[in-house]
Amino acid sequence: MTIKKALRWIVTAITALIVVLIVGLALFIWLSYPKLSTDSVFVRPAGRDVFKFTDIPRGRELTPQQIDQYAEKLLAEMTLAEKVHQMSGDIWLWDLVRLITVEKKKYNDHAILAGNNRRLGIPPLAFSDGPRGVVMNHSTCFPVAMARGASWDLDLQRRIGDAIGQEIRAQGGNFYGGLCINLLRHPAWGRAQETYGEDPFLLGEMAVALMQGVQRHNVMGCAKHYAMNSIETARFQVDVQVDERTLREVYLPHFERLVEAGVAAVMSSYNKVRGDYCGENAYLLRKVLKEDWGFRGFVMSDFFQGVYDGKKAAKAGLDVEMPVPLQFGRPFLAAVERGEVPREAIDEAARRILRRKIEYLTRSDPMRYDASLVVSKEHTELAREAAERSMVLLKNEGGLLPLDKAKLKTLAVIGRLADIEDTGDHGSSRVYPPYVVTPLAGLRRYLGASANVVYENGADLARAKQSAKNADAVIIVAGYDYSDEGEYIPQQPLPERGGDRTSLGLHPQEAELVRAVAPENPRTIVVLVGGSAIMMEEWKEKVDGILMAWYSGMEGGTALARILFGDVNPSGKLTVTIPSDPAQLPPFDPHAQSIEYGYYHGYTLADKKGYKPAFPFGYGLSYTTFKYSNLRLSAPQVAPDGALAVTVDVSNTGARAGEEVVELYVGFPHAGVDRPLKLLRGFTKVALGRGEKKTVAFTLRARDLAYYDPQAGRWRVEPVSHEVLVGGSSRPADLLKASFRVTAAQAVGGTTLR
Ligand code: BGC
Repeated sequence: MTIKKALRWIVTAITALIVVLIVGLALFIWLSYPKLSTDSVFVRPAGRDVFKFTDIPRGRELTPQQIDQYAEKLLAEMTLAEKVHQMSGDIWLWDLVRLITVEKKKYNDHAILAGNNRRLGIPPLAFSDGPRGVVMNHSTCFPVAMARGASWDLDLQRRIGDAIGQEIRAQGGNFYGGLCINLLRHPAWGRAQETYGEDPFLLGEMAVALMQGVQRHNVMGCAKHYAMNSIETARFQVDVQVDERTLREVYLPHFERLVEAGVAAVMSSYNKVRGDYCGENAYLLRKVLKEDWGFRGFVMSDFFQGVYDGKKAAKAGLDVEMPVPLQFGRPFLAAVERGEVPREAIDEAARRILRRKIEYLTRSDPMRYDASLVVSKEHTELAREAAERSMVLLKNEGGLLPLDKAKLKTLAVIGRLADIEDTGDHGSSRVYPPYVVTPLAGLRRYLGASANVVYENGADLARAKQSAKNADAVIIVAGYDYSDEGEYIPQQPLPERGGDRTSLGLHPQEAELVRAVAPENPRTIVVLVGGSAIMMEEWKEKVDGILMAWYSGMEGGTALARILFGDVNPSGKLTVTIPSDPAQLPPFDPHAQSIEYGYYHGYTLADKKGYKPAFPFGYGLSYTTFKYSNLRLSAPQVAPDGALAVTVDVSNTGARAGEEVVELYVGFPHAGVDRPLKLLRGFTKVALGRGEKKTVAFTLRARDLAYYDPQAGRWRVEPVSHEVLVGGSSRPADLLKASFRVTAAQAVGGTTLR
């Protein structure tokens, strides 16, 4: 054998080995792919007489009974594997890696699918995240939810939901993950921006309005993260301890409100509650959500790390694992076949998913959806309007604002954040709009040639001071960006990784910038950017103007200019308490293994302890002034299952038109159990022309006074005298007060509040 021949043998052998290895690896990956391949080309089509999803009549509003009947018919045709197949996302980790690395797509660029069954024609769930807009593709970027909460404007929320619903449908989605309603118990929470504020009542009302807009377009809404997901960095491990009253009265009412209003789905959270991961938590999923509240929809896990024990999760009431079947795959099916998971649990999960698919994916659409809806002119204008209605004027000494365009020759704009696209965090809620109007661009465009806009990023203090000195007015933009607060994704490189805030105030250099610049120009206004309360004790007294702008979306800069120059009168109010001392906040540990969530936080804590916050919950100024008078109740008493009409007169006593948020609280001065001093139970936004007076009416249901009695496992209203407080903020000085009595002792509503 010549050397040449031997070499040829060796090369052939190595090649063969490589081929065998590649084939083996491919086989291994294919075999270990945990998703059950009911959707593969090898699946035989169903026969003619088999009932399929496509046999359900289209374009009709089906009754719940009809939906149930069709779901049962489909279930009867399905194999066990097909039922389990409904219970997870249709992709595998490799698909995701390929999408991001080879195809260079961003996360959730297209809808994430779950439960496509070709044999029976069952369409998949097609998921897009939110809540800042639609995460898929390049969609309209609205102000973050925390900003929108500060608008206290339910109609606005509904219109944003409507726009989001349209943009999802126009891009092939049918399932929206943007109904985030975790309670803000501490402003350092990294994902504060995704929720609406610290009050359960407000959270529920806002999210219902958004949901109604979205679901109108036959897009299933998903309420998340159920439950007690209010610390970010520790979210994968923290075990939240909570007593039953705190759970039912503080952390769950907004979820119940969405269930009552017909939310399609609920997402379980990553954290544990009382020792069990929420995706495996039978008490939260089966007992409270499905039994006590009668939820008819399905529960899906939070993504990738939301389930650890599939058998436990299925028994506990988790219906779908997203976005890949790490637990609900082949081994799980085998476990079901061995009888380790009751078949009823699988039937129940499949039934719940099918019910929602039948309900949403067979009824008629209110309109046609095409690509021109995405980032349409109407939607970007809505984004601007939302920013305008969300900004909160916190300080305006001597009527410094609005600025007068006619008198302004030079405007100094200072701060790094004035000149960057800062729409919020870079986690799963990130929306990728085609453009963002920064504060600087918005001000420049607004002023055009009428004034000289000088920009300093603030790195050089001396230059910043000089430009402030030479200007007629100064706008300092300060606060946070995605590197300061956001979703914690450990695999992501810094600074995108996000997490809880490390500080409640401005960065020291920015605080120093404000302190240095303010004395140079008495007309200095600080515009704050961030996702929740920012403490400002160290510089607050040095400036006469403070505007909370939040992360204000793709049209934020346009909105900012229109507010600062008075084209728009600010009408936002805080949905978070801004403390004057961190000691006024409940304990917070971003790395906690275990933590107790107490009954009090935010304004209820400040009220109870007599704290003086820097700016209270519900607070916000206008360029005009409002006066409240003539608070009256329809009767001096109410039955425990009755309601009272509450009316109040609100007058615009200033020099220009404006909108006022009217807030209604209830108080419990004679309670036999521990209660907060007051609780928000109603709000509305009213537009008043100069000198105009309107009567504002609320309906107060006695059951909204209830507390949860853990011994009896039901809600109770006490037969005592209660207070109703109405006004323009939660501060006692801003509230009118009246009293009424509840007539008899009686449990209300059993296990449900509604
Ligand atoms: C987040 C969820 C989000 C999901 C899908 C998770 O990391 O916690 O809020 O809906 O990803 O994008």
